[in-house]
Amino acid sequence: MENLIRVVGIGPGSPEYITPAALEMVRDSDILIGGERALKAFEGLAKQTFTIKNNLKEMVDFINRHRANYKVAVLASGDPSFYGILEFLKKNYSKTDLAVTPGISSAQLACSKLCISWHNAAFFSVHGRTIQGLSRIAGKFGKVIVLTDPKNTPGLIARELVKEGLGARKIYICENLSYEEERITEWEIGDVPDGVGSEGCVMVISDE
Ligand SMILES: C[S@@+](CC[C@H](N)C(=O)[O-])C[C@H]1O[C@@H](n2cnc3c(N)ncnc32)[C@H](O)[C@@H]1O
Repeated sequence: MENLIRVVGIGPGSPEYITPAALEMVRDSDILIGGERALKAFEGLAKQTFTIKNNLKEMVDFINRHRANYKVAVLASGDPSFYGILEFLKKNYSKTDLAVTPGISSAQLACSKLCISWHNAAFFSVHGRTIQGLSRIAGKFGKVIVLTDPKNTPGLIARELVKEGLGARKIYICENLSYEEERITEWEIGDVPDGVGSEGCVMVISDE
């Protein structure tokens, strides 16, 4: 019988946002799979590791070779089910092969820091994706929470939305959430400069 593949959300970055359940799951696993930053957070546990870097096919082969004999955990930043690695794993495994432990998402932490609710927000990601469709959603919802990346920066997104006719909106840019370098800034949609949030951030487009 093969072990379940553990998919563990480790929160937005700082160890204080890793839940006790996620920490327990990591401690109990034999092999950790994740990006460099995720693995670094647990290097003190001295587990066997596999580093993800544009090698997802090799990752699947690695999991298939090891899961019969070892408890394997795939570490996901934030929550695995929110624009995370879960979708990719579901293309390769059935739901019954996977055991997901949730994490605190960067989007959740952004909303907490901004003191806004997220039950009535729309979600969008331009991380490794296109901006296409965002202006339609931003026109429909009072609040859109967007995950950005170094290519699709807040300045570029804001300019595109203005060009497509989106009216007055506040833009909140939440960078390095939970880290010492955390920075949260507020802009009018026409004034978002280049360079802010350009490493990837949570961008909130809001009509309030
Ligand atoms: C591949 S997505 C993963 C999202 C993750 N599953 C989550 O729940 O937060 C990566 C994007 O999440 C956002 N992100 C992740 N951690 C962040 C942090 N500590 N501060 C700001 N944004 C973050 C950025 O937009 C980044 O480009």
